[in-house]
Amino acid sequence: MTPSRPSLVLASLLSVCAVFGVAASFGHARADGPKPCNKTSYEIAQVQAACSAGGQDAVKKLMKAAVDKGKAAGKEIKCASCHSSLKDFTLTPNAVADLRPLL
Ligand code: HEC
Repeated sequence: MTPSRPSLVLASLLSVCAVFGVAASFGHARADGPKPCNKTSYEIAQVQAACSAGGQDAVKKLMKAAVDKGKAAGKEIKCASCHSSLKDFTLTPNAVADLRPLL
């Protein structure tokens, strides 16, 4: 049996973790200013208000709160339940009706 070198293994594991940690924190870097909403008029007053106050960033906070509320009520809900695309936030046919009770 050749003696293994656990300390070397540990050191390389740690450096891998460090690299991932740095990458993860860069991933959260934000662009300047909030991204404006896609549309100028919204069916839901709270969404409209969030758009004018803080663009899509503000809407996302509202949406997250809605998802949390849905989950708390035992629903299986996520962004994709109402948005067929999370890039341009295309709505599914149920989206407006489903969102209202969650706000
Ligand atoms: C229960 C349904 C529902 C869920 C779940 C949901 N959304 Fe939405 N979302 C909507 C509806 C409906 C609108 C548009 C409201 C309107 O037209 O008044 C919208 C609008 C948006 C917009 C504005 C898009 C634009 O036009 O610029 C963003 C951004 C957004 N949602 C992000 C999210 C994110 C992120 C999540 C997950 C955390 C999420 N939504 C979950 C229903 C939902």
